[in-house]
Amino acid sequence: MGKVYVFDHPLIQHKLTYIRDKNTGTKEFRELVDEVATLMAFEITRDLPLEEVEIETPVSKARAKVIAGKKLGVIPILRAGIGMVDGILKLIPAAKVGHIGLYRDPQTLKPVEYYVKLPSDVEERDFIIVDPMLATGGSAVAAIDALKKRGAKSIKFMCLIAAPEGVEAVETAHPDVDIYIAALDERLNDHGYIVPGLGDAGDRLFGTK
Ligand code: PRP
Ligand code: URA
Repeated sequence: MGKVYVFDHPLIQHKLTYIRDKNTGTKEFRELVDEVATLMAFEITRDLPLEEVEIETPVSKARAKVIAGKKLGVIPILRAGIGMVDGILKLIPAAKVGHIGLYRDPQTLKPVEYYVKLPSDVEERDFIIVDPMLATGGSAVAAIDALKKRGAKSIKFMCLIAAPEGVEAVETAHPDVDIYIAALDERLNDHGYIVPGLGDAGDRLFGTK
């Protein structure tokens, strides 16, 4: 079974409160999502392998550590996942970025795929799929399916807010995928929105409605 990590760092929790607040406007919402994505990227990269290199400081020769050439891929689920990409790339600028376009049919709540574009060396990369919301889990499961179908072997899923239903759906369909979240909320409402959640992530990020 995949592991579920809740990032309870005070800075993440503080910023998430303002992301949730309905009085937070688009500009600030976007900036906060970007900042939280950076903080989460710091935590999610904790297990990256290191190797030693030799350098010279102004004082002496030294053996020091660098990240061991890991090939990473960041995959936002369109649209709202886009809001998390730049924040992650600030810390891991060499990562390649793929895109998976899905929208949730408002009646059935089932995901509809409309776009997939991935780095060419899918089998060799470690992927982080990002989306602010894990609600029913339909979109996350479909995005992981889409990546695996094209040969991906190593996948993590990172979101801001998850509902228990979404976590269970990913765990059941993809027990090899670890889930990283900033908050695990109470439940879904009758329209499939996370309670208390933050509302519609895509609309709040892009100012649409
Ligand atoms: C939202 C969100 C997730 C999905 C989560 O996207 O960004 O992708 O819903 O819901 P689920 O877990 O029940 O599948 P939405 O479908 O609203 O598309 P958008 O980002 O284009 O607005
Ligand atoms: N998608 C969102 O944007 N918000 C939710 O609460 C659920 C799905």
